[in-house]
Order: sequence, then C-alpha cells, then structure tokens
Amino acid sequence: DSLRSFVHALPKVELHVHLVGSASVDTVLALARRHPAAGVPTDRAELERFYAFRDFDHFLRVYWAVQSMLTDRHDIRLLVTGLAAELARQNVRYAEVTVTPYNHLLDGMAGEELLSGLTEGRALAAVEHGVDLAWCFDIPGEKGVRAGRETLLFALRERPEGLVAFGLGGPEVGVGRAMFEPFFTAAREAGLHSVPHAGETTGPATVWAALHDLGAERIGHGTSATADPALLAYLAEHRIPLEVCPTSNVATRQVPSIAAHPVRRMLDHGVVVTLNTDDPPMFGATLEGEYLAVATELGLGRAELAGLAANAVRASFLGEERKTALL
Ligand code: ADE
Ligand code: ZN
Repeated sequence: DSLRSFVHALPKVELHVHLVGSASVDTVLALARRHPAAGVPTDRAELERFYAFRDFDHFLRVYWAVQSMLTDRHDIRLLVTGLAAELARQNVRYAEVTVTPYNHLLDGMAGEELLSGLTEGRALAAVEHGVDLAWCFDIPGEKGVRAGRETLLFALRERPEGLVAFGLGGPEVGVGRAMFEPFFTAAREAGLHSVPHAGETTGPATVWAALHDLGAERIGHGTSATADPALLAYLAEHRIPLEVCPTSNVATRQVPSIAAHPVRRMLDHGVVVTLNTDDPPMFGATLEGEYLAVATELGLGRAELAGLAANAVRASFLGEERKTALL
C-alpha cells in the first residue's frame, strides 16, 4: 500500500546491524551445506524452526551456530554480499556494519581471510548492489579485557578501508563498561568513532558508563534510558543518537511489544532516535519493517518517519557531502 511505498522510497541508512546476525536463511543454508560438520540444519524448514527465537539466550545460540561455520574469506564474502543484496532491496543506501574480529580469530580464522572477505564483499556491495558499507569493529564484552586489547590491536594494525567505528557488544549483565575504557580511548585517539551497546539488557547506569567511560558518540540500543529523565535530557542536549532496534528488543523480551516500546517517549524528550534491525533475519526484522511498525503500532506519521530516516543519515559517519546527497 501507500505507506509501504513511502517507507520504501525513503533513502535509508542502517547504523546498527551485526554482520553475523545479518545472515539470511538462504545464506545460512549455503554455509551449512559448505560446512556440514557444523551440525546446522541443511533443510530449509528445520532451519526456519531453529531460527524462530525464544529469548536472548536462544538468539545467542543461533548466532553462535552461524558464527561457528565461518572459516574463510568465501564465507565472509557470502555474508557481506547477502546483506548488501537485502539492503539494496529495501532502498538502504549505506550501512555501518558491526564485525567482531575477536570471535573469528578465536574460531581459528586467519585475520587475512577476514579482511579479504570484508574488503572483497564491500567492493561487490558497491558495484553489484549500489550499497556503501562501512565497518564497526566491536569487542565481545563477555570475553573481557583480552578481547578488548586484541580487537583494538587488530583494528589499528589492519585499518581496512571503510573502518569508521569501534564498539562493544555481547551480554551486558555482569560485563561492566568501564574496564574497556583504555581501548576506547586509544581507538578514539586513532580517529575511530565510539559506538558501544548500552542499556539493551541493563539499566540506565550502563548508558551513563558508556558516555563517561567510553566517550560514546552514539548508543547501541539505549532502551533503558527512558527510566532516567536526567539521562534523556543529557542525550537530547548533547545530541547523542540512540540506535534503537524495536523488533530486536521485542524478540529478546526486553520490551513486551512494539506498542509498548519507549521510542515514542525518547522522541518526546527530544532524543535523536534512529531505527535499526540489529540481527534482522534472526529477529524476523527488516529496516522497512521497523519504520512500518512504529507507524502502525505507535502512530508515527509520515513526517516523523522521514525525520527518523534523516536522523540516521545525520548520525552516520558519512562525510557532509554524502549526507547532503541522502537528505
Ligand atoms: N551481538 C549481536 N547482537 C547483539 C545484541 N542484540 N546485543 C548485544 N550483542 C549482540
Ligand atoms: Zn546489537
């Protein structure tokens, strides 16, 4: 219908999507057939059942199953081009994609394979799909300071083309933000932007820590910020964008429904909100679907949807010229 075409026509950018979590059922089938020993279903119906999430822990199991099949540049290129094709289909022109090098290195992939897969995939995304990709290398927080150090060293040593940001993901419970401060300081000094996850599965104190300890320029999720009016005021005043992922938050049971999502309250407080998918096929999300969901479930009008799309362009790390072209 017409709202659908309106959302499709908006030139969109995505700021929060994990490369491994972007694997579609088709991509995972291709990977599972390439790596039968991994034990991931090679039958479509069975794989679709496995993909149907239950909660955050089940999501992590699916995520790790996909992760475990990635061994070389061919696998990485498959992920990148699969994501680019899907973004192009939705008129998403640019995406900042989160990659977790430490996990791949831990699984035995050579750094060279990862980098070649990313760089080849990025070139194909531009040429074949007209989608520009940039990278955020993030620390898997649950693996501690060692993961922080290795991620930083890998990022600064390799500095692949398109690397723009440094992040922190994984479970938040029991994983303080402050211990990663030295790595974020060094990454920022080297010119990378700070975009940690915070306030997805824990309270507003984690968002404050991301701001104070990690110099966050954007916050991954920030869902719980609405529990702290002073934090909302701070985010609004300093124009720190939130990478809000509504369907992901419902899927992992952080929020009971889109209708109950605090995104409306964030907007009412003047916070810069962007809409994102996180791990789209694993959560049954698409970026177009996120725009449609907040329209139908929360009553956002077309001007507000266009405003959200423009927020994402402005909150991106594109140069001013590219931003202007997308606005
Ligand atoms: N890694 C992939 N998806 C994630 C999420 N939703 N939260 C934290 N880490 C993640
Ligand atoms: Zn995420």
